[in-house]
Amino acid sequence: MRSSSQPSRAVKSSSRTARAAGPKRLLPTSTRDTRPSNKPWGGRFREKTHVLVERFTSSLPFDWKLFEQDIRGSIAHCKTLERAKVLSQQECRTMIHGLERVRTEFRKECFPFAPEDEDIHMAVERRLTQLIGPLGGKLHTGRSRNDQVALDLRLYLRDVLGTLETGIQALQGSLLGHAKKHLDVTMPGYTHLQRAQPVLLAHHWLAYVEMLERDKGRLHDTLSRVDVMPLGSGALAGTNYCLDRFFTAKLLGFPHVTRNSIDAVSDRDFVVEVLASLSIIMMHLSRLSEELVLWSSQEFRFIELPDGFCTGSSMMPQKKNPDVPELVRGKTGRVYGHLLAVLTMLKGLPLSYNRDLQEDKEPLFDAIDTVLDSVEIYSELVKRLRVRRDVIAQAVGSGFLLATELADYLVMKGISFREAHGIVGRLVRTCLGKNQELHELTLSDLQEASPHFGSDALHLLTPEGAIARKAQFGGTARHQVETQLKAMEKAIHASAPRKALAASL
Ligand code: ARG
Repeated sequence: MRSSSQPSRAVKSSSRTARAAGPKRLLPTSTRDTRPSNKPWGGRFREKTHVLVERFTSSLPFDWKLFEQDIRGSIAHCKTLERAKVLSQQECRTMIHGLERVRTEFRKECFPFAPEDEDIHMAVERRLTQLIGPLGGKLHTGRSRNDQVALDLRLYLRDVLGTLETGIQALQGSLLGHAKKHLDVTMPGYTHLQRAQPVLLAHHWLAYVEMLERDKGRLHDTLSRVDVMPLGSGALAGTNYCLDRFFTAKLLGFPHVTRNSIDAVSDRDFVVEVLASLSIIMMHLSRLSEELVLWSSQEFRFIELPDGFCTGSSMMPQKKNPDVPELVRGKTGRVYGHLLAVLTMLKGLPLSYNRDLQEDKEPLFDAIDTVLDSVEIYSELVKRLRVRRDVIAQAVGSGFLLATELADYLVMKGISFREAHGIVGRLVRTCLGKNQELHELTLSDLQEASPHFGSDALHLLTPEGAIARKAQFGGTARHQVETQLKAMEKAIHASAPRKALAASL
């Protein structure tokens, strides 16, 4: 799991303590409270919530992560209530001051959780009321936890997607660094994991930079649907108070306001979209992982992973294992699982809010933490890996990488590609019989296969020549790769991570 910020960790553990032991000193009103239920919604209940239900329904062990957003949203709600004349200026001021104190307690890891705190929203409101008295009871006017939690999630995603973009950008930077450094390295390119044609190693690194660029694009696209303000939708029907929702949106830096209150409290498409985007990022990282594992193996030896990013074996003293790429590859399944979990949870849910929706958080939080961690560790690992130019140079000399060059030569001499393919295929077969490479063939060997071969065909048989001829846009010729490298460097700097939208609160 991602190492969260200090306050969050402590908050998490205190919430666990509160749930398990329910420290007496944290029970603010229980001795005076004569209601059968000590819940804010307990009015119509004859019995106290069963302890099993309390435990089963609580989301505090994971939604504490939303405390910053919950308080930010509540402050905006206060100001909207004041604008609607539900709160006086003084009441608004007192309430905001109280919310800020609650926020400080969270940040300083001294927020006193209580056993009856069902979720982060209740915990904040309960503590606020303890701090400022009955005025705290006015905070939830015109609001439901249904629109509140939708708001918190959207605010959270807005915050975290920016961080993720920065992380991806750093990984792109590490890959670009290698691309720049290895513009002169020719390697065997593969299809079907069989040697295919020579390519520049820089071209290969840049392929990952492209994937990550699309990943950032997907996050950006998703953001346009995350960035919509749901508060004011109430439980499902809207609100009786004259709440200026556009004012709330402005305060929180949202460019849009949800148009349908039923949809606003039911919609988790944006969570699915984020999880889908995260799954694609992990799929890309998993492909990179596979190559890092393969390339660092004794069988390939194309790269050496940094010692500090590998682990040893408890039994075999010689081992240096690529556990980090293996774990990134392994964690990909976990993120896909989270996407499927949320899609399945949503399938068949009637409108509008249902408690099932609470099950969106753990998968989402874990997927985000997993991707953030993977991207972070990869940008450091990739930066430090060492390319073994000697091994790669040797590899590029075998495997009939230049067969296509010969076929294209014959095409230039007027032979159809299909026929040329057959001629060169037979040449390869001859070579295989004699345990030879194509470049070891003599002119008469070539001419035996086709009289169209001239002595210039022999000069074709260098990996560098093959690379130089791939000179069209997007090809592996050095000047093309350099052009793409520069373009990506520019693109990355231009798309500086989205600034957190005006957070006036
Ligand atoms: N904790 C809930 C969630 O994460 C929000 C509370 C809504 N609860 C309710 N009974 N309407 O979705």
